[in-house]
Amino acid sequence: MSNGPVTPANPASTATTIKPTDLRGILKYVPRFQGQIFVLAIDGSIVADENFGNLLVDVAVLRSLGIKVVLVHGIGHQLVDLSETRKIPISNADGTGVTDTATLDLAIRASSRVSHLILEGLTQNTLKCAITNSVRALPTGILKGVDQQFTGKVDRIDKEFITHLLNADILPIIQPIGYGPDARSLRINSDLLAAEVAESLGASKVIYLTPHPGLEINGEIKRDISVDTLRALLKEHPEQLNELSRSKAMHAIRAIETGVPRVHIVDGRTFDGLINEIFSSEGVGSLIYANDYQQIRKATKRDVRFLYNLTRNAVKREELRHRTQQAIEKNIDQFYVYEIDENIIACVTLYFYPDKPQLAEVGSLYVLPFYHNRGVGRKMVDFASMRAKEKGVTTLVALSTQSYSFFTSVLGFQETEKSVLPDARLKSYEESGRNPKVMIKTL
Ligand SMILES: CC(C)(COP(=O)(O)OP(=O)(O)OC[C@H]1O[C@@H](n2cnc3c(N)ncnc32)[C@H](O)[C@@H]1OP(=O)(O)O)[C@@H](O)C(=O)NCCC(=O)NCCS
Repeated sequence: MSNGPVTPANPASTATTIKPTDLRGILKYVPRFQGQIFVLAIDGSIVADENFGNLLVDVAVLRSLGIKVVLVHGIGHQLVDLSETRKIPISNADGTGVTDTATLDLAIRASSRVSHLILEGLTQNTLKCAITNSVRALPTGILKGVDQQFTGKVDRIDKEFITHLLNADILPIIQPIGYGPDARSLRINSDLLAAEVAESLGASKVIYLTPHPGLEINGEIKRDISVDTLRALLKEHPEQLNELSRSKAMHAIRAIETGVPRVHIVDGRTFDGLINEIFSSEGVGSLIYANDYQQIRKATKRDVRFLYNLTRNAVKREELRHRTQQAIEKNIDQFYVYEIDENIIACVTLYFYPDKPQLAEVGSLYVLPFYHNRGVGRKMVDFASMRAKEKGVTTLVALSTQSYSFFTSVLGFQETEKSVLPDARLKSYEESGRNPKVMIKTL
């Protein structure tokens, strides 16, 4: 599935090229995508496919539209090939099982080969690129009593390094090999790695380029599906997905839960597949999308202590007004929280003035610094606005001492006089002595 209204090219025809009308359609999307980060996760088998050259032309098109592309590649196909030609058995091909010494050695060779093919292809398209050592990893260790040896999990992505390259118009290439605490190589599954890279960079899309036409559910390709539906399906009817689709689905869910809004699964063997998936109205693969407000829920009494600790630092810096644990507990009904992997990373309050039902106040907006600039703050206020509107509120009020410009320049609030506040609220405003700016927004 896709994002835009461009006439879809016929994916079956290798003669298909982007028509001028399509180009006009694509150009409409330039402002929307410009500066965004797309993480392309390319299966090793796609690098070996004859369409790979065309795929890199698509990558060059994305770059020319101002999209920042990061390539994460797999090596499974090449690893199996090497194992067969050299007659060296491997302990696992995709980085999810045990990696013994021989497998690690072949994986490093396969990885160098695949990265090199990508370097050649990008050079052909006159794109600057660099293979990075940006993945810090930790050994997976012992699982169910079995030592996973040289299999690793991501510890940290060197975001600064990758961002530096992107800002210099250099396309980063990330291999499915990470570097452990002692700088030794560890094999990492590339699908999982792509999700981790996307999370760390705040990417707007992960695009898995696979040798399959998309997410297959009950034998049919699903063009788009919400993450909630997919999660429920995996839990209740995992048998409806084949093994490959299941693995991609799990990584897609993980990427979305950590803040990547859209994950695409595209057949990398299809001519113009990548471009059509992103810019055509029908798309050629599968899109898994986040439900906009899925991570937001009402707070409960069990969250009180956590909310108190979450906002304590902001209170110290006078960004938020002080509330005791008791005060939070008493007003817990006003709180909404944003969760990632069952951890609360942001909160907001919505307070309905009893004496002015057409007004409501949004407050205690706080996002953990690690999650800043990923749209969480905006989403929390949008959510509160939606809830307020549902209750018949016509004007939303926000009070802020230090982040008022977030409300005015980012969220479209306007500064106003404190006299807009109902009497009881004006009284507590005066008593607090914090003198916040008062802003309003018509819903
Ligand atoms: C203010 C805050 C809620 C923003 O949350 P966030 O999740 O980082 O915001 P979003 O990702 O939705 O929006 C990011 C945009 O807001 C801008 N922004 C963030 N804080 C801003 C501020 N204080 N003033 C102006 N713009 C601000 C960013 O530059 C970014 O702009 P861009 O999209 O043009 O790049 C967060 O910084 C925070 O929790 N601050 C500490 C607590 C606080 O001050 N709360 C408000 C009191 S009511």
